Amino acid sequence: MLMPSPQSSIPRIQTGVVKALTPLCDEHFRLTIQVPHLREAAPGQFVHLCAPTDDTPHDCTVDDNHVSHHNLWATRCHAPMLRRAFSIAGVETTEDGVQVDLIFRVVGKATQWMASLQPGHRVSLLAPLGNCFPIPRARKKAWLIAGGVGLPPMLWLAQVLSQAGKHAILFYGAQSSQLLALDLGQDAPCSTDATQAVLASPSLAASNVPVVISTDDGSVGLHGHIGDAIEAHYASASPDTNDLVMYTCGPERMMRFVADFCSDRNIECYVCVERAMACGTGTCQSCVVPIRNDADPQGWQYQLCCAEGPVFDAQTIVWETPANT
Ligand SMILES: Cc1cc2nc3c(=O)[nH]c(=O)nc-3n(C[C@H](O)[C@H](O)[C@H](O)COP(=O)(O)OP(=O)(O)OC[C@H]3O[C@@H](n4cnc5c(N)ncnc54)[C@H](O)[C@@H]3O)c2cc1C
Ligand code: FES
Repeated sequence: MLMPSPQSSIPRIQTGVVKALTPLCDEHFRLTIQVPHLREAAPGQFVHLCAPTDDTPHDCTVDDNHVSHHNLWATRCHAPMLRRAFSIAGVETTEDGVQVDLIFRVVGKATQWMASLQPGHRVSLLAPLGNCFPIPRARKKAWLIAGGVGLPPMLWLAQVLSQAGKHAILFYGAQSSQLLALDLGQDAPCSTDATQAVLASPSLAASNVPVVISTDDGSVGLHGHIGDAIEAHYASASPDTNDLVMYTCGPERMMRFVADFCSDRNIECYVCVERAMACGTGTCQSCVVPIRNDADPQGWQYQLCCAEGPVFDAQTIVWETPANT
């Protein structure tokens, strides 16, 4: 199994500089941040982000340039006090360090603040955190299934799989074309037929990764849920299940569908789970995921999404416990 070893890369807090903030659709943005270094990060890992405390906030009218109390400071500049988790959507090494891409949907205070950032503004990043997607050596085909804002880790994974010589397809479901966080070109429009994976996204076409897209309202791609698309594509392609691995990230209901789909067909499958996270480093115990454990009388035990995840073998997750309903 090809498996990068992020455990050997110690997460550290760094101040990053915003290089670009690019709107992707009505509610999603790509934020590109330059950091001095990011050792041995791999797809599936995430950053924990907040405003830097050692700097004057960019949209804050404070007299003192060195407000030392983070809470007071964060309140005044409308930035969150607690860090928020964001999957790494891509990294690029440059002459000045490393550029980290994040993709986020504006849902609350932190993401509103992130959507107000401009090139040159500074952010504090604790990274890289969490584990990463295993890449089984023996499997040459990979299906990546993303829903909504579960797309970011899949974009980086698609790139890395392609570099590893795997044949990857991205299945991406969104509510509508206005909420599609993926770039779509004019040359190869994505198909309404789920059996047709098309090089419709220029950024993924560069890695030769075709996409199948579904939207709930049918405004682009297949009209329906991404689960329908997977079933149709699977029926048409009849892939050798010993040669296939699936990865998924997105709404819990969708991930559970993919986990069950794979379980029924004996397909290796990994899920990237999200939990509200306070510390991100295994201290506060706020991010539990129930994981099967035959040695435990109840048949499962909690693991920490931040420290032991966010990537788990799909067949080990106990979906029906209180923590997952
Ligand atoms: C490992 C990991 C990776 C993530 N990657 C991304 C990413 O790439 N892009 C992205 O946009 N978001 C991502 N998230 C989710 C993001 O961290 C939260 O949505 C974050 O709370 C947003 O902060 P906020 O202040 O804008 O909204 P908040 O005010 O914190 O929350 C707004 C609403 O979202 C709900 N919410 C908060 N956290 C979560 C969560 N983890 N899952 C589901 N609902 C939640 C809250 O209950 C609330 O209703 C990730 C979370 C984790 C744990
Ligand atoms: S977020 Fe604190 S233990 Fe996971």
